[in-house]
Amino acid sequence: MNSRARKNGHASDTPPLLVRLDALGKSYNEAGEEKCVLEAVDCSFAAGQFICLLGKSGSGKSTLLNLISGIDRPSGGRVFIREQGCEVELTALNEHQRTLFRRRNIGIVFQFFNLIPTLTVLENVALPVELASRDRKGHRRAEDLLERVGLGDRLDSFPDRLSGGEQQRVAIARALIHDPVLLLADEPTGNLDEGTGDAVLKLLLELSRNAGKTLIMATHDEDIAGLADAVYFLERGYLVSHHVQAPSAKRESGVGRALGRDAKTATAQ
Ligand SMILES: Nc1ncnc2c1ncn2[C@@H]1O[C@H](COP(=O)(O)OP(=O)(O)O)[C@@H](O)[C@H]1O
Ligand SMILES: [Mg+2]
Repeated sequence: MNSRARKNGHASDTPPLLVRLDALGKSYNEAGEEKCVLEAVDCSFAAGQFICLLGKSGSGKSTLLNLISGIDRPSGGRVFIREQGCEVELTALNEHQRTLFRRRNIGIVFQFFNLIPTLTVLENVALPVELASRDRKGHRRAEDLLERVGLGDRLDSFPDRLSGGEQQRVAIARALIHDPVLLLADEPTGNLDEGTGDAVLKLLLELSRNAGKTLIMATHDEDIAGLADAVYFLERGYLVSHHVQAPSAKRESGVGRALGRDAKTATAQ
């Protein structure tokens, strides 16, 4: 893609690395004092996996996701993301280049949905494709995705007519519209009641798994982490541990049951 991109060789039986973080750190200057909120994180995430960033409020999860997406700039260190077989250093790109990279490769689901209130459901979902290609081909794919998230009959509604769970379904469709390799989700169920949250989580996991996406999700919910392929634990800006979960250790018998919650609630809106 650019001069910094390089080929990434892999053994055929191991999933290739999609994201690599090299001594990634973030600090803020507050009243003349340096406040470090993320301390030299080194780690790699494999393609096609569901990865959980687990930690209490204030531990640095959103900061880390915003650095991986290129929305925010680190104080030190580098982010590499593979694009079509080449590793691209996201942190070496300027803001416009990072925006274009995101439009090609990254979908984001936020805790508070971040839908545009003046656009309909269909327009919200189609927007990323239309920004990227300036044509209306996004509408057909948006309709298809909205059908898949169970909102095929709400295309012309405005976001404020939808429940929280429905708004997050729209946001999931929007995050998938440009078929990104990487999905980032920042506490996507954090603003939903338990039953609605479980249903949204189930949908997000199904759609990302079926499409072979890599999903990196920030959460403070240890039950959700129990479903992940790998869990990275953050504490006050430090990546203190990580573990890879064997398939047998993951509770994959359905999100509602896996979370130890009433199965009926996992289909609620
Ligand atoms: N713009 C900012 N200026 C100063 N401190 C910030 C800023 N943004 C986040 N922080 C601090 O960084 C730390 C980590 O925040 P965050 O990444 O949002 O944590 P989490 O998502 O795990 O709740 C917190 O202590 C927060 O107060
Ligand atoms: Mg956060």
